[in-house]
Amino acid sequence: MSETATNLLYLVTIVAFVVALRFLSSPRTARLGNVVGAAGMLLAIAVTLAQDRVDHYAPILVAMAVGAVVGAVSARLVKMTAMPQMVALFNGVGGGAAALIALAEFHNLGPEPGRIGVEETVAILLSALIGSVSFAGSLVAFAKLQELVSGRPILYRGQQIVNGLLLAGAAALALAIVAGPQEEWLLTGVLVAALAFGVLFVLPIGGADMPVVISLLNAFTGLAAAATGFVLHNNVLIVSGALVGASGTLLTMLMGRAMNRSLTNVLFGAFGTVQSGAGAAAAAAAGDGGTVRSASADDVAIMLAYARRVVIVPGYGLAVAQAQHDVRALADLLEERGVDVRYAIHPVAGRMPGHMNVLLAEANVPYPQLYEMEQINPEFPRTDVALVIGANDVTNPAARNSPGSPIYGMPILDVDRAENVVVLKRSMNPGFAGIDNELYTHSKTTMLFGDAKESLMALIGAVKSA
Ligand code: TAP
Repeated sequence: MSETATNLLYLVTIVAFVVALRFLSSPRTARLGNVVGAAGMLLAIAVTLAQDRVDHYAPILVAMAVGAVVGAVSARLVKMTAMPQMVALFNGVGGGAAALIALAEFHNLGPEPGRIGVEETVAILLSALIGSVSFAGSLVAFAKLQELVSGRPILYRGQQIVNGLLLAGAAALALAIVAGPQEEWLLTGVLVAALAFGVLFVLPIGGADMPVVISLLNAFTGLAAAATGFVLHNNVLIVSGALVGASGTLLTMLMGRAMNRSLTNVLFGAFGTVQSGAGAAAAAAAGDGGTVRSASADDVAIMLAYARRVVIVPGYGLAVAQAQHDVRALADLLEERGVDVRYAIHPVAGRMPGHMNVLLAEANVPYPQLYEMEQINPEFPRTDVALVIGANDVTNPAARNSPGSPIYGMPILDVDRAENVVVLKRSMNPGFAGIDNELYTHSKTTMLFGDAKESLMALIGAVKSA
């Protein structure tokens, strides 16, 4: 295939990637975005395989078939709550591939000194360095989320100094390669130092902060892929790597903003080391002086069935309980009775970006019923019941009222401004931030304790006979 034809087709794939990103930014068009992106990738692969310099088709096709089967099967089997670790694993594999290509190209370019130009050497080194950090960091993120290692921040004395030394060592070896001796053992040294840095950089970060870290590592993988594009003189890899790098960076920043936390705080703040004394007493001290009031499903069903407007606030617990279909069934029942039902979506509810959107989409909840935080907050004072299901931190008024709280300043869903609040959770235990929620002792709050799925099933039965 001629170079012009190749680049023209690559341009089509790049346009497909940009359009896909645009579509992915709304739940309404996200599925289409996925299809457009996948079609663009298929075209990019086909055009690359049609290059004159590509041979040895058999091993390439076998590797592709193995990768496709593993990818398709794991995407089908993975549970919604395990999605972040799957993304971590796939992301790590991308970084590892970039590092391996760098190693192979360095080897292929021959043993004579000065054989590789400075630009190419820098591209190889960036690809190896960033790819290895991303690979090792993503594997640790996976292990933490999968609970293969402790999800708590793992801290030791002199941690930042060790990390600094490793990074400086990798950079020094890389500089030595640029300066002259293009020895493979030096590049191996860069890889080993970068891998160790990747592991030690992620270990001190708490498990629940992993989505932010994964998004950051995703940006790293994008940059490593772009550098690999320079190594292989492949334009589509350069542009798509840059797109991944840019979108990963934007997502990291958006998540930080939605939690009101800086990236430095996420990476070096060891969030999750201090757990407050969970329990009713502590919560009572923080609330409006009230005590915890719990009710039966029958009582809550009456409240819901005779309400004019109910706003459902889903959180991480809904995903844990896998109760998305039950919440939809309850909402349908209420709507049949003429209740105006809406869902309030907090940008960081759950454990990954868009977690609640994906969860509710699985149960085919109609998109017009989903309201973003800015849209729904002014509606709470006109809401009869805010039904909080497995959400905790994203509803905690301490974010507005308590300057000393770790979540102070985080934008929250103002459920406490509704007429009544009903909270479905199993206990008085805190959520991700490890702090008590004063909402639970508020005079307008009723707790319905139990697994969200079981509570919702009980509510469905009770609403039917209300
Ligand atoms: P959380 O504050 O983590 O609270 C979840 C609650 O669900 C827990 O209090 C838990 O209480 C309850 N729960 C767990 N399993 C349950 C079950 N089977 N049935 C009923 N309830 C259950 O969740 P949230 O309100 O969604 O807030 C998300 C938190 O994660 C925020 O602090 C956010 O900053 C953080 N975070 C989010 C992201 C993204 S991108 N989404 C990334 C990093 C960090 P019980 O144990 O008493 O049941």
